[in-house]
Amino acid sequence: MPRVYIETYGCQMNVSDSELILGVLRRDGYVAAAEPAEADVVLVNTCAVRDHAEQKVLSRLGELKQVKRPGGVLGVVGCMAQRLGPRLLERVPQVDLVVGPDGYRGLPELIARARGGGERAADVAFKAWEHYEDVPPVRETAASAFVTVQRGCDYRCTFCIVPMTRGPERSRNLADVVREVTDLARTGTTEVTLLGQTVNSYHDGAHDFADLLRAVGAVDGIRRVRFTSPYPTDFTDGVVAAMAETPAVCEHVHLPVQSGSSRVLKRMLRRYDRDRYLDVVAALRGAVPGIALTTDIIVGFPGETEDDFSETLSLVEQVGFDDAYTFKYSPREGTPATRLKDAVPDDVAGERLERLIALVRRLARQKNVGLVGTTHEVLVEGRAKRGGFLQGRTRTNKVALVPGPDAWIGDYRSVRLTGTTGSTFTARVIGQELAVVG
Ligand code: 5AD
Repeated sequence: MPRVYIETYGCQMNVSDSELILGVLRRDGYVAAAEPAEADVVLVNTCAVRDHAEQKVLSRLGELKQVKRPGGVLGVVGCMAQRLGPRLLERVPQVDLVVGPDGYRGLPELIARARGGGERAADVAFKAWEHYEDVPPVRETAASAFVTVQRGCDYRCTFCIVPMTRGPERSRNLADVVREVTDLARTGTTEVTLLGQTVNSYHDGAHDFADLLRAVGAVDGIRRVRFTSPYPTDFTDGVVAAMAETPAVCEHVHLPVQSGSSRVLKRMLRRYDRDRYLDVVAALRGAVPGIALTTDIIVGFPGETEDDFSETLSLVEQVGFDDAYTFKYSPREGTPATRLKDAVPDDVAGERLERLIALVRRLARQKNVGLVGTTHEVLVEGRAKRGGFLQGRTRTNKVALVPGPDAWIGDYRSVRLTGTTGSTFTARVIGQELAVVG
């Protein structure tokens, strides 16, 4: 049986897409290989959102071509594949296949043609109908699973390459999503994360995201529902109410703000200004007590002044995010922002990024220190990398290290948070605090 090795970079949807690709290939008799050197087919599932992500893949391709087996196939899939298309075949001669996010159904055929030094090919056509509805993803059996509910993006944020790499927005039918979640629950999954580029703009023609949250939250055996990434202004009253009224929906939202300056948000073509974003934050906090909020922020967007940046700092302070992913603006070929004037010099952007990270860390630490001593339910996900602890996650998406046996993996436990590094926690299972200490 041919063996395939898939290496995944980028967002959760890429992780989910890699499961889908394995699903496509398994139908064709492929099995997963543990190492690239053992595989007949090596696929790298890529990200294009920042140049750094692409550089990492290019250097990784340099390593992978060394271990490529005679007659083997090296393919690049995902957003960087979509962005570069045939240019990638020219640039890296050892790459045999370049396939974008809508082309995975064609992988078996393209691989068959490429094997043994055959035909090299790029497939970067968008298929607005493609949901891979008939392809069962190959997942590790686990308590937690990703479920893609929407693909593509119709928003046009001026910095973002995603509309050009993932094509037009399309939502799966609610009934299909519910069927998949029901099947997952039958095999022991209790937590699902619904995925989409602007996941809360989900609409299947008859149902919106509020309907989806309620329907998925009602599936027997599903104890936690998460979703990522939402778009701030798609938190309609209906969606907020569904979150509040669906017990399984977790108290955490990743709410990308990008900037705290209305002037910059306008140039980014975000569909809200600072005040509107703060209204969404207030609505979520009002409806879902204790909700944790995380965000994405770009610094150094063209035209960003020191005053604009100060507004980002003040918004971060005002909201008090639980955490934030912070990025230096990276110009992406073909996106509207590359035509904007007043580029921010790299050293200025770098210095702003450092100040922002320092503030984010300080606020996160403050918040997390305040949580020490509180009790939470954690889903035990597995062994932590260090220290012989189990790693669990609260409903608010905080990571807690808990002493305990492997037998707890996949289960829920009530814990008390006992300490924090500032970002993650130590914790003890309630009722066992003394026993474990002793
Ligand atoms: N430069 C820097 N960061 C970007 N992001 C998206 N495009 C760019 C870019 N061109 C960030 C945004 C987004 C996250 C996934 O990546 O903050 O929310």
